[in-house]
Amino acid sequence: MLTKILSMANVGLKTENVEVEVNVAEKGFPGFGIVGLAGKSVEETRERVKTAIINSDIEFPTAKITVNLAPADINKDGSAYDLPIAIGIIATIGEVTLPKEKAYYYGELSLDGSLHHTKGVFLLALLAKEEGIKNIFVPRMSANEASVIEDISVYPVDSLKSLIRHLKGEKLIEALKPVNIEEILNDITPEFDFSEVLGQQQAKRALEIAAAGGHNIFMMGPPGSGKTMLARAMAGILPNLTEKESLEVTKIYSITGNIPPGGSLVRQRPFRGPHHTTSQIGLIGGSSNPKPGEISLAHRGVLFLDEFPEFGRNSIEALRQPLEDGYVSISRALGSVTFPAQFMLVAASNPCPCGHLGDPKKDCKCTNYQVLNYQKKMSGPIMDRIDLHLVVPAVDVNNLMIDKEKVSGEKSIEIKKRINGARKIQSERFKKLAHIHSNSDMKNSHLKEFAKLSNEANLLLKQAVNKFALSARSYFRLIKVSRTIADLDKSETIKEFHVAEALQYRIRGEN
Ligand SMILES: Nc1ncnc2c1ncn2[C@@H]1O[C@H](COP(=O)(O)OP(=O)(O)OP(=O)(O)O)[C@@H](O)[C@H]1O
Ligand SMILES: [Mg+2]
Ligand SMILES: [Zn+2]
Repeated sequence: MLTKILSMANVGLKTENVEVEVNVAEKGFPGFGIVGLAGKSVEETRERVKTAIINSDIEFPTAKITVNLAPADINKDGSAYDLPIAIGIIATIGEVTLPKEKAYYYGELSLDGSLHHTKGVFLLALLAKEEGIKNIFVPRMSANEASVIEDISVYPVDSLKSLIRHLKGEKLIEALKPVNIEEILNDITPEFDFSEVLGQQQAKRALEIAAAGGHNIFMMGPPGSGKTMLARAMAGILPNLTEKESLEVTKIYSITGNIPPGGSLVRQRPFRGPHHTTSQIGLIGGSSNPKPGEISLAHRGVLFLDEFPEFGRNSIEALRQPLEDGYVSISRALGSVTFPAQFMLVAASNPCPCGHLGDPKKDCKCTNYQVLNYQKKMSGPIMDRIDLHLVVPAVDVNNLMIDKEKVSGEKSIEIKKRINGARKIQSERFKKLAHIHSNSDMKNSHLKEFAKLSNEANLLLKQAVNKFALSARSYFRLIKVSRTIADLDKSETIKEFHVAEALQYRIRGEN
């Protein structure tokens, strides 16, 4: 007796059909073998499946059971095959009859037969839609991930027992109601408020521009000047995720198991702040069955690297490709895997190891060698990819408390309104381009069409290129930042003063 059940495998974000073939033979030496699963997961799967079946009041067959997961050449090391294997065995011995209509089965079993939250269900729903297969059976804890995909019937399964009852027609599992994406997207609460940061008007303006266009920003300043605070406050002014962006981000979060049980779409723009001790693999992605790193978890959001020069030199160097291309390629034995990594880099640093280089009030205690060594990590190719360079001076907070004039009362929500406005213009501008959402995503070839400069603006730009010997990369990045400043100003044409402001944040990095 042979039964075939459909499930899914993934390599990175690419998914493929997996056919789980179950054969139960009366003849031959009794046993339970699994072919096509990687390494030690075979043993674990066998234990879970066998115990879960017994605990679901089904007699485990004393026969020769062979399970084959095809195709053999894709890496399958997950626990999601528990459910298709178990249901395959139960169907083969005639305890249940599988429906004629094709369906996917996917989920990890616990020993008592209940189903655990399983990563990747969102991708399974996308695959089902692509393949035109309507029904998917997944753990209830993970089912909301799938319910945002149209035209799919998502059956939330609590336990193997409940699925057996459903298949026997004793107690039917009700498919989830489809969820409207727009309804989910509007529900956002800001984390932390910008109005708590006193003074620092220039820094706030620069962060607003960065958030509005998705530009990279670097903050340098002495200890205690508020760099970390400013960056963290930024999480509250990030523009709402669009529907398209949300789907892209949810893919990455689903496959890495970063969506909490019961969770659905990722609605907040990601804000990731990995510590400088994070390994290169943790930051960039990798390992034998490659997993996305922090830079991909920050896709369409912010990657905040505080104490930037403390990160390993190799990690910093490895940021170069993703910062330029918006994705990362991880090579492995069987070809390379690509993950999206279109993040906005927010980096912060002191000017030197003691932090007081250039401080009018305190002396720097570092040797020249120490300063050079420290700054070397921040120089060259990485700095060239930063759009906005910012010096954050120390402020006397006591003074600011007294002098209310200098204290910005502007709340995050007000700033966010302007940013959302600028993003709306960008969404409209790029609506025909699949992967371009914000000004920073533009390829240089798009600038001619989307970033029209006034004659004066053009002249100023040319002068700046000569005067500051800007690299070609700096030149293009400068135009993109000017585009964002003009969008915040609701101006279709980029004018001279837009370029002038963008230049203000650019020149420092050229020194
Ligand atoms: N502009 C400000 N308004 C209100 N509080 C501030 C401001 N700047 C600094 N602070 C206070 O000082 C604390 C230290 O600031 P923060 O940690 O952001 O400094 P930093 O620039 O990151 O310093 P370091 O270089 O040592 O990391 C904050 O937690 C906050 O309480
Ligand atoms: Mg800090
Ligand atoms: Zn110093």
